[in-house]
Amino acid sequence: MRTVEAAASLREIVAGWRRDGARVGFVPTMGNLHHGHYSLVDAAHARADRVVASVFVNPTQFGPREDFASYPRTLAEDAAGLAAHGCDLLFAPTVAEIYPYGPVDMVRIEVPIVTATLEGEFRPGHFAGVATVVTKLFNLVQPDLAVFGQKDYQQLLVIRRMVRDLALPIEIVSAPTLRESNGLAMSSRNQYLTTPEREHAGLIYRTLRDMASALQNGAGIDQIENDARGALERDGFLVDYIVLRRADDLGTPAPGQRTGLIALAAAKLGRARLIDNFLTDL
Ligand code: PAJ
Repeated sequence: MRTVEAAASLREIVAGWRRDGARVGFVPTMGNLHHGHYSLVDAAHARADRVVASVFVNPTQFGPREDFASYPRTLAEDAAGLAAHGCDLLFAPTVAEIYPYGPVDMVRIEVPIVTATLEGEFRPGHFAGVATVVTKLFNLVQPDLAVFGQKDYQQLLVIRRMVRDLALPIEIVSAPTLRESNGLAMSSRNQYLTTPEREHAGLIYRTLRDMASALQNGAGIDQIENDARGALERDGFLVDYIVLRRADDLGTPAPGQRTGLIALAAAKLGRARLIDNFLTDL
């Protein structure tokens, strides 16, 4: 596997593959890779002849009080893991390569509606940063398909809406969330947890699943949401949200709606802000 920093080298390699008729898959990441990320590489491989992964800690999707500076950067390990998973090319650009005018005065992609709530509310500007960098990476890599994790469900909806509205010729593939044995969704930010916190953090997933069971058992949505918030708060989580929403657009469920819903949560535990979700129809 080759690692390139320069956009020109990336383009040259991918153009060569295309001339040979290869189908190109792409997995964008911010690095500090874990099995969840590697499962996306596997999913890309299953659908493409060549796989490009990117590692870029994108400054424009972090808020001023967020962890951009301290976000774990482990490029050598990431490259070794990607090579072991059969990734063909790692694109690891500098900030200047991605943002020639700097990460403040760049052209910005704003995706409305699906960004107005949940993560969009608690992290203003986050999804504009994500949509902008993903557009840029798509333009550089020019893949046939790109794989995103359901772990970041709202991000997946943002990307799908953006790709459709901008008519980008890229198939968006979603891949299931990989979890630790206690249910905790794998995440680069789990490193901020102490060992006891990491054990404890499995409660988020258990609570999301309990919400799905309560829905199946006929409980009301307000009641389910209140109980879930109480369960996490009693155990020391600082809850940003834990809600049931429509899975297709994250709107609030229509009166009496019991299907097509997703439970989503964001909560802080110690130094970590954790997000997770569970599709209730499964
Ligand atoms: P990052 O958090 O590194 O995640 C990269 C991809 O891995 C995303 O599609 C995410 O949903 C997926 N992923 C994370 N944890 C996962 C898990 N436990 N199981 C399966 N997939 C998982 O998401 C980003 O980076 C950035 O916002 C990015 C899209 C790269 C734009 O900067």
